[in-house]
Amino acid sequence: MAPAFRRDMLGTLLDGFHRYGDVVTYHFGPRWGPRAVSQNVVMAHHPDGIHEVFTTPRVFSRRTTGFQVLTEFIGAGLLTSDGEVWLRQRRTLQPLFTPRRVAGYTELMTAEAERVAADPTVAPGSTVDLHHLMQRYALRVVGRALFGDDVDEAIPQLQRLMPILSDLALARALQVVRAPLRWPTPRTRRITRERAAQYGIVDAIIARHADREPGAERDDMLSRLHTARDPETGQPLSTEEIRDQVLVFLLAGHETTAGALTFTLHLLGRYPEIQDRVAKGDADLVRAALLEGMRLYPPAYSTERLADVDTTIAGYQVPAGTRVMLSSFVTHRHPDFWPDPDRFDPDRFTGQHTRPRYAYFPFGGGPRSCIGEHFALLEATVLLRTLLARYRVEALDQRLRLAPMITLRPAEPVRAVLRPR
Ligand code: HEM
Repeated sequence: MAPAFRRDMLGTLLDGFHRYGDVVTYHFGPRWGPRAVSQNVVMAHHPDGIHEVFTTPRVFSRRTTGFQVLTEFIGAGLLTSDGEVWLRQRRTLQPLFTPRRVAGYTELMTAEAERVAADPTVAPGSTVDLHHLMQRYALRVVGRALFGDDVDEAIPQLQRLMPILSDLALARALQVVRAPLRWPTPRTRRITRERAAQYGIVDAIIARHADREPGAERDDMLSRLHTARDPETGQPLSTEEIRDQVLVFLLAGHETTAGALTFTLHLLGRYPEIQDRVAKGDADLVRAALLEGMRLYPPAYSTERLADVDTTIAGYQVPAGTRVMLSSFVTHRHPDFWPDPDRFDPDRFTGQHTRPRYAYFPFGGGPRSCIGEHFALLEATVLLRTLLARYRVEALDQRLRLAPMITLRPAEPVRAVLRPR
């Protein structure tokens, strides 16, 4: 199946679901051979199976090829760590993301949203790339909220690096045999070079943080990382650990939110009547539009786990060592829970609905669910309310070409015209 996945991952997954249903096995590599080159990947599409994979303790881990490759690229921060190390990191960082703590960022987010609305490139009637605009917004918010920093100078660099690194990482994850990064092939050299550029951005953020008001009492993420101590050994985090953590939050903290906003604004731009209702509606309707945008285009569209022991998913036997994939992109179109699945309809998320918990999981689930969920929801609704109060968004394209990389990204600029209301 590897060639089909490389050619059209989303189409292949949807086709597999429509043909075979709630649990599908895909074979990668030659039919026979050692597990390193010949393996089955099990996709669970039904909410019950997803529930099992996300929440059964000590059965499904992150020791998968995808997460190993991600670790090579972005180190061992909260997203990629596992076991005890992960638990310690999550405990250190969780207090920064409680709903109360996150609510404290409302003002900063509002100011940044106003800045987007006042941006000279958004001049009435001119064409904008929504993705570009939303990436800038999300990066500025993360920079200020988590690192107390103005990351503007890094924005063009990150906008250049993200697609390159995602592409390199995905290609590496789909390779059956991977040369270690220390072997100098053209591809590993490229990875090493782009990765160094990425850590250059991180080091600049850490250096600026250290220069600012030394000794001042702050409680942003960097201060917390500097003061964190291992409860058993009393050791502080190493420089490497701090760099990796900053990188993970810089990337995970902006890429997905920017995607969610881009997709939602594009959809609203395609359906002017819905947009007008949302623009005049209350906060709940704005939130519903965002949730519906992430239903159709979930920025974290797929994830994977490794079955560490022999187990079952939805009654099917799954041997130890099997890769298990979950795709919100597919489950969010499951017709048992989402009638007329391709229709954009924010009312799916207004009022009362009874759906299984895992019919919808844009933020994942179980203990490893997104730590930034409240942060992202607040940040995105603030932007939508601010922008829609000021402008009517007209989408210039009726179709969205998607690039499923590590996250779901638009394959090309998402063009829109903003007209004052
Ligand atoms: C709309 C925006 C976002 C979406 C759709 C999203 C989605 C997700 C998903 C699905 C996961 C779980 C991945 C898995 O199970 O393999 C996750 C994990 C994570 N997210 Fe988000 N995320 C968003 C915003 C954010 C923000 C704003 C931050 C940080 C400020 C963040 C930081 C993280 C981190 C660090 C993890 C790893 C958590 C752990 O394993 O303990 N995310 N996210």
